[in-house]
Amino acid sequence: MIKDKDTSIKKIVLAYSGGLDTSVIVKWLMDKYGCEVIAVAADLGQEEDLEKIREKALNIGATKAYVEDLREEFLTRYCFPALWANAVYEGKYPLATALGRPLIAEKLVQIAEKEGCDAVAHGSTGKGNDQVRFDVSIMALNSSLQIIAPVRDWEFKSREEEMVYAAKHGIPVPVTKEKPYSIDMNLWGVSIECGVLEDPWVEPPEDAYLITKSPQEAPKEPLYLELTFEQGNPTAIDGISYKPVELVRKLNQIGGSYGIGRMDMVENRLVGIKSREIYEAPAASILIIAHRELESLVLDRETVHFKEGVSNKYAEVVYYGLWHSQLRKALDSFNLILQKQVSGQVRMKLQPGQCICVGRKSPFSLYSEELATYTQKDIFDHKGGEYFCKLWGLPLKLKAQKESREKNFP
Ligand code: ARG
Repeated sequence: MIKDKDTSIKKIVLAYSGGLDTSVIVKWLMDKYGCEVIAVAADLGQEEDLEKIREKALNIGATKAYVEDLREEFLTRYCFPALWANAVYEGKYPLATALGRPLIAEKLVQIAEKEGCDAVAHGSTGKGNDQVRFDVSIMALNSSLQIIAPVRDWEFKSREEEMVYAAKHGIPVPVTKEKPYSIDMNLWGVSIECGVLEDPWVEPPEDAYLITKSPQEAPKEPLYLELTFEQGNPTAIDGISYKPVELVRKLNQIGGSYGIGRMDMVENRLVGIKSREIYEAPAASILIIAHRELESLVLDRETVHFKEGVSNKYAEVVYYGLWHSQLRKALDSFNLILQKQVSGQVRMKLQPGQCICVGRKSPFSLYSEELATYTQKDIFDHKGGEYFCKLWGLPLKLKAQKESREKNFP
């Protein structure tokens, strides 16, 4: 029993995953605040039995437990806008975890408001990015809610101490040997850290990967996929329409079987440290490559180049926990205008560990074969090229002329 009971809080809504930390948190919060705890388990496509997780929360003592199926919303409101931006953090990570947190926070706030809660709690640690995403999202959505992250300030110094507490309070502790990694999974990808991965020199062991096969075990024969996009959103594979969740699951499965979408990186966390993480994101990787290719066909040069900068900024904003900011919304509007033309088909070739675009077409294509060709069909005005060079090079020519004059008459 915690001595200095804090009675200022009566009802807390908690982001509950069913793991040891958040299970201990249910009890710990009840103990510390003498309050009600409402558990919320969010389904972002992590393929877990959420009914079991709901029951577990209730057994530990939660007064209510919600299971929220957020899969479609996650894709259409979070991942697809990130796809419009072609967002990848530090050139690699398609932001699966970073996109999931602000949506979970949104649901926590909604439920907190509905249930009349004073506070929102989550299980993030004090040195990660996720605490920032939860805290900042919650304060952006309802500034009067208190935010509690027990792992940041509780007394347990190790997992063993937590297990002792759990056993004492009848909280089921993991009996089987757990995976030695910290894993976060959703439809947009899997984030894996800790264990041997903490040494950035060590190659990730095969058992660290969850949804991708080793490229060595992938089929040798390439596989062609034709992806359809409508206004920036993927809608069909090989001419067959799929709803977002089914489409992304299918691409994860096919891409995973070819060992596509594995990343191994040392990234710069928001709290200042570098961390080594590995990711698996078959669907996101395939879709981002395909989407960029389609944009290269339908957007003009200056827009494509400007959008590269937007893409980086968008990835930073998402990674930094600023989803619910004006800036993210404004960047979405920019991308959305351009997506009106991002419709068409992209032909992707899947090979072991690699996915490349080998064909693209669109009713909005700006590509003109007659202009690009080197055959007799060519209609390009070559004389125009000469005048263009004259004008384009004029500033450089003026400079060169001046320099040569000064050299001759110093
Ligand atoms: N580094 C990634 C991010 O900040 C993933 C963090 C969560 N990873 C995990 N294994 N729990 O978005």
